[in-house]
Amino acid sequence: MQDQSPKRIAILISGRGSNCMAIIRAIRDGKLTGCEVAVVVSNIPGAAGIEAARALGVNVVTLEGRGRPQAEHEAAVNALLRKFRVDLVCLAGYMRILSANFVREWQDRMLNIHPSLLPSFPGLHAQRQALEQGVTLAGCTVHFVDESVDGGVIILQRATEVLPEDTEATLSERILEQEHLAYAEAIRRVISGNYEVHGRRYLPRGSAESPTQ
Ligand code: GRF
Repeated sequence: MQDQSPKRIAILISGRGSNCMAIIRAIRDGKLTGCEVAVVVSNIPGAAGIEAARALGVNVVTLEGRGRPQAEHEAAVNALLRKFRVDLVCLAGYMRILSANFVREWQDRMLNIHPSLLPSFPGLHAQRQALEQGVTLAGCTVHFVDESVDGGVIILQRATEVLPEDTEATLSERILEQEHLAYAEAIRRVISGNYEVHGRRYLPRGSAESPTQ
């Protein structure tokens, strides 16, 4: 029988934490069920998201990465995730590159959100790249984390039109609205376990009898 206890989520942040808040609120408001936020981890002391998450009654731990060897920092993060019995790690504006070892340890159990329709515009300043390239649709992607930068299997994407009057700020704001909807929905899909991955395609379970090669 499948384990029915709520999946325990860790959210890793480095800054504002608006995606983190959106996930916490979705759970609190009953829009995202079957999971709970076990802990929010920030690698930046004083990040705005820390107080915001605490104000919603969530455990928050700061584990500063700066000035510490990566392996040591990641060992500390891992120990914390184990202590909080975490099932799923959600990166939400977490600005550290993770080692291959850490990624392997959390393979298929770690998600990230990126403010572009991947595979377009990975890396930094995705919204600016979208404007510079003149695309007319922008958006966000929630994906599994693998060893590449923003390159793991895509779970879901949400789009918004690029308007003629858009600046980086206005486009980022509209993409962010989509991010807040996308992350909770992606978590819902993943914790349901009701999916399979064929090559690079994330598919609802049973939807691909003969997957394309
Ligand atoms: C978001 O745009 C997210 O897609 C990117 O970093 C930003 C984090 O924003 N990875 P916030 O801290 O969740 O408000």
